[in-house]
Amino acid sequence: MIKHSEILKKLEDENYQKVCSLDNLQDGRGKRFLIDDVDIALFKIDGKVHALSNICPHQHTALIFEGFLEDNCIVCPSHGWKFDIKTGKKPSGSNGLETYKVKLVGDDVYVKINQKKLNW
Ligand code: FES
Repeated sequence: MIKHSEILKKLEDENYQKVCSLDNLQDGRGKRFLIDDVDIALFKIDGKVHALSNICPHQHTALIFEGFLEDNCIVCPSHGWKFDIKTGKKPSGSNGLETYKVKLVGDDVYVKINQKKLNW
């Protein structure tokens, strides 16, 4: 059986970071977190946690965490753009919000932030 410490080491090696505990998230509601200066929104839906960019691509408002759920999409509260909760894509299939991998270890929520490459 794999030890708890080995699981945590593997997550660390894969650049997952502990963000919060499941108890910090309300079902169906979003919550905002900053991880390494990346603004993300976590949503717990039916016990599963989804991590998306908190920045709406429409007018770059940081309000996705205040969005509401409709037809498996998060609806931006500013002007109603919709994003698939799992893929971050718009209903048309075009790119929308970046998504991040989430792992649960017990009650702890770990998220893997993909660092952006800088193009200088
Ligand atoms: S800022 Fe999100 S829909 Fe306009």
